[in-house]
Amino acid sequence: MPLPLDMYQIRGARPLQGIVNISGSKNATLPLMTAALLSDEPSYIENVPNLRDVRAMIKLLQHLGAKVTFNAGTLKIDPRAFNVDSVHYDLMVRMRASFYAMGPMLARLGKAHISMPGGCAIGDRPVDIHLRGFEELGVRHHHRNGYIHAMHNSLVGTRLSLMGPNGTSVGATCNVMMAAVLAKGTTIIDDAAREPEILELANFLNSMGARISGQGTGILKIEGVKKLFGTNWKVCPDRIEAATFAVAALATHGDVTLRGVQRTACASTLFALEQWGAAMDWPEPDVLHITRGKKEKRPLHIVTEPFPGFPTDAQSQLTALLALTPGTSHIRETIYPERFKHVPELNRLGANIRAAEKGKIEISGVPALEGAAVMASDLRAGAALIVAALAAHGTSQVRRIYHVDRGYEMMEEKLRTLGAVIERQKETAEDPGMESLSLSAEEEDVTLGGEAAEG
Ligand code: UD1
Repeated sequence: MPLPLDMYQIRGARPLQGIVNISGSKNATLPLMTAALLSDEPSYIENVPNLRDVRAMIKLLQHLGAKVTFNAGTLKIDPRAFNVDSVHYDLMVRMRASFYAMGPMLARLGKAHISMPGGCAIGDRPVDIHLRGFEELGVRHHHRNGYIHAMHNSLVGTRLSLMGPNGTSVGATCNVMMAAVLAKGTTIIDDAAREPEILELANFLNSMGARISGQGTGILKIEGVKKLFGTNWKVCPDRIEAATFAVAALATHGDVTLRGVQRTACASTLFALEQWGAAMDWPEPDVLHITRGKKEKRPLHIVTEPFPGFPTDAQSQLTALLALTPGTSHIRETIYPERFKHVPELNRLGANIRAAEKGKIEISGVPALEGAAVMASDLRAGAALIVAALAAHGTSQVRRIYHVDRGYEMMEEKLRTLGAVIERQKETAEDPGMESLSLSAEEEDVTLGGEAAEG
């Protein structure tokens, strides 16, 4: 019999109060880990969050031949024995970011046989833009039996665009950049993604001896070099974890200080929260103190966009806050138009959210949410349900939190430090919603005394 899954049991309606340290960024760490394969010297990466996705990436690097150790937040990646040119389905299916292995495999080994990543709860997630970028550098590829088989005689720099139907691609920019650093000649990526994680990867590669400029501007120039060296690096803080804790502080009427907030990386989220009415001050340059403040709370009209726009990864958490905000808010999701799996679950907690049209929701604020059993469908949907459960009256169960474990380090420990009543338990058939339905023996006699026994 399969083991029962973990869930959170949360007693809500308690203001979060205190100080929380934001961990290193998941989305920055994952491409740095495969980028370390581009050298034949060891690299050391500090401030790495201990997450399921990081542990899955360690397994992938080890499968490829690298030696990896992970101690007290520091990864040592020794790529000297990196020589495996295939990645099977089981390693790809765990995490889409496994596809980040392809750029380094092409650059160092000249070929890659890699399982197609699967679909995903937040919507269709193709890899055509990655493959188009590699093709421009001289890679030939074909698909067979769910695998991409790719090879080249040499990678040659060129001018290319990574624009897709929903804007430019973060993953393709990382992957193509990793292949281009060891290509012959210069590669210019027009329409490169501008996310802070791209900046981090470009700077990491430069610290290994790459020659990349323009990071953060949308046009990346990569002058190929013959060889890269090992490096020492400290990962930047996680802007989505910061957004999640900021929103949780506001939804619970809390008073929270977040240590490790990069102001530019979080600018659009902070701007939205300011418009909403939050009070924020900065006791130190990367320390944010956030409360609801005295201003009237206003509904928001948000469109998710590539950086520097509002991040899709903070959309579901913000939805939970807007569910408790007077008036009608709207969210248009332009990156993953189907990324609304959290909506029916928030409605189970008493929210009033409707699909307005494809890719858009309308949120009518309610005065309070009430505890219920809900289920996380993906990482950020899980985060949104935790925010809502922390704000809700009564007890909630947030099930399937293995999704949350992919991307939040020590979530329950951090929340408990802030005064939350949250416990990790095994999923059971018990449902907190049933408590309010359970009747005293006397009432039961009366209610079930006759027809109620029917059926
Ligand atoms: C990364 C982040 C993810 C975030 C997303 C958008 C990591 C590990 N993940 O994912 O958390 O939500 O950026 O900020 O950093 N697309 C294509 N073809 C492709 C690639 C992408 O059509 O080959 C589309 C996607 O379906 C999506 C859009 O382009 O609509 C942006 O996706 P992309 O930026 O590539 O996201 P990821 O890198 O997968």
